[in-house]
Amino acid sequence: MPGNSQVTGSAPGQSTLENPLSEPCVMVIFGASGDLTKRLLVPALYNLACDDLLSDNFAVLGTGRSKISNEEFRESMGGEENGLRAFHTRKEFDEEACDKLLSRFHFASANLDPEDFKQLKKTVEELDKKYQAGGNVLFYFAMAPRFFGSICENLYKAGFQDGEGWKRIIVEKPFGTDLQSALDLNEDILKHWDESQIYRVDHYLGKETVQNLLAFRFSNGMFEPLWNKNHIDNIQFNVCEAVDVQGRGGYYDHSGVLRDMMQNHMFQMLAYLCMESPGSFESDSIRNEKAKLLESVRVYDKDEVPDYVVRGQYGPSFKDDGEVDKPGYRQEDDVNPESNTETFAAAKLQIDNWRWEGVPIYLRSGKALWKRGTEIVVEFKKAPEKIFKGTGIENLSANRLVFHIQPYQAIELLFQAKTPGPTMQLQSVDMEFNYGDAFKASRYTGYEVMIYSCTRGDATLFSRGDLVEAAWQIAQPLLDHWEETPAKDFPNYTRNSWGPKSAYELLEKDGRRWFEVVTPDVLEESPMFKGADPLLLNAVILALRPGAAAEGEMIIQHGDIANEMYFICRGEVEVLDASGKAVHTLKDGDFFGEIGVLMATTRTASIRAKTLCDLFVLTKADFSRILQDHPQFAESMMKVAKERYDLAVSADQLMAGE
Ligand code: BG6
Repeated sequence: MPGNSQVTGSAPGQSTLENPLSEPCVMVIFGASGDLTKRLLVPALYNLACDDLLSDNFAVLGTGRSKISNEEFRESMGGEENGLRAFHTRKEFDEEACDKLLSRFHFASANLDPEDFKQLKKTVEELDKKYQAGGNVLFYFAMAPRFFGSICENLYKAGFQDGEGWKRIIVEKPFGTDLQSALDLNEDILKHWDESQIYRVDHYLGKETVQNLLAFRFSNGMFEPLWNKNHIDNIQFNVCEAVDVQGRGGYYDHSGVLRDMMQNHMFQMLAYLCMESPGSFESDSIRNEKAKLLESVRVYDKDEVPDYVVRGQYGPSFKDDGEVDKPGYRQEDDVNPESNTETFAAAKLQIDNWRWEGVPIYLRSGKALWKRGTEIVVEFKKAPEKIFKGTGIENLSANRLVFHIQPYQAIELLFQAKTPGPTMQLQSVDMEFNYGDAFKASRYTGYEVMIYSCTRGDATLFSRGDLVEAAWQIAQPLLDHWEETPAKDFPNYTRNSWGPKSAYELLEKDGRRWFEVVTPDVLEESPMFKGADPLLLNAVILALRPGAAAEGEMIIQHGDIANEMYFICRGEVEVLDASGKAVHTLKDGDFFGEIGVLMATTRTASIRAKTLCDLFVLTKADFSRILQDHPQFAESMMKVAKERYDLAVSADQLMAGE
């Protein structure tokens, strides 16, 4: 394949010595006035330009139905409200780099009929001459997938495949809406173009933390011997989104989380984490291993689906006075008021190969959840607890390796250490690599590396036809079952919660729990921890222990000595005043009992579980130990807490258990 050069080691933006320029080309964007172009493609090109990674022989030709001039196109792409100046990701805006980039932007008004494609060919040829792009053309399909087939055909008929230079096509997701449509789409595209010319985007593969999964696994000798069913108990993939459908109801109602997140982004991460070692870092070497892995994932019979997969849909959130705060999914614009579309799903997958047989792989993703966070948790088998008999240690935590993909970016290894002192006591501690501490890099959209790699003929970060098909094979029985059996309990979770109860039951059946990842930004939601030192936050996170309370259970009793503070992962509690009257409800993500612990007072209110609750508990002993290690914060935290809570209305004081 022409121009099939390899990208050297590191990702864009580090050094032009390590990263050669993108190859010369004319980049033709279909759907140039759409959101994707403005929000992601142009900011990505701008980042490449700022980092001197864009060839001087590079031009953009936007196409669309609008009848606008080159100048109008440039203005709209660079715009302050809805263009580059609004969407760029760098700290400082570089006017010069922006002007230089936009001067290379052109626009051609075109419909999708064959005549327009002939004209388009002439325009591309003119630009090719002007920029000396060597006949290289990169077509970017930033349009609805129903147009992909006909664009491919029209490009072919217009003669784009002939002549000098390479021709490559980047196809945006979704690639099909089910197995059959993906097969059809592959057939349509491959009728006229070769697989090696097709670059199917999955923007998760452009994320540094996702790319690092491969680097981590195959450049570190110490984990590989452990990476199998003998040492790993289970793996959890968690993609929580706090956002709702954000005005994309029309698209989302025909999609749902399985098509939107799992079949593509999550299966790609799964493949990276679980695949066998590739023979090399050549794109097909890696993609062959990914395909093999996805082909080993058990395809359920549609009748088995309810045993392994649960779904959810968010309902409205409410204000304290019971009024609707934000609408539920069915009330969103462009969504069917009786929609059966899932906005949440959790699944247990099984990989039937020698390495992973019997190791459950749990996946969970949803919208309108309490926090934004993507994590992969590799949970190792527990050590035998019997060894510690007689020491008072009853439960050993499993070792966990946590890949924090976003927004927190880190890799963390959790293990136990002896608490200093004369008796044998254990405490969870961690070793952590944090991207922000280790690397100084600008933020990227994830699309830089995709465009850059495509111009250099490196398809490693793109999906391949067989991979897409294997992913749809896994998803298809779920789609079929859900289509045939509308959910009876939708909506089954409230906005800002941790999703439906059934997701917890899915793991409970296996005697396991989701490992809820609390990150420093999550902890900082509490005024008490706002702005606290990262070391202190980390110490608190490590000391949090999982707990649960049944519906109606009293968690805190008025008058008790305050021994613990709590963080609600899932569920609701009510704050009761001295007369037993419920005065306040606290939900997922709220803390309670912290002031009693901090100020060593007795409880002045009771707290009762309104629903089944999953909690994190921080004991006073742990909290005091942490404060001893960080004495400088005890005072400032006390001050903040006093100011915040003393000034607050009495319900808030009660809420704090003060
Ligand atoms: C897109 C989905 O592919 O990924 C969106 O269509 C989703 O619904 C988005 O919000 C998530 O991407 P990221 O990079 O924010 O995790």
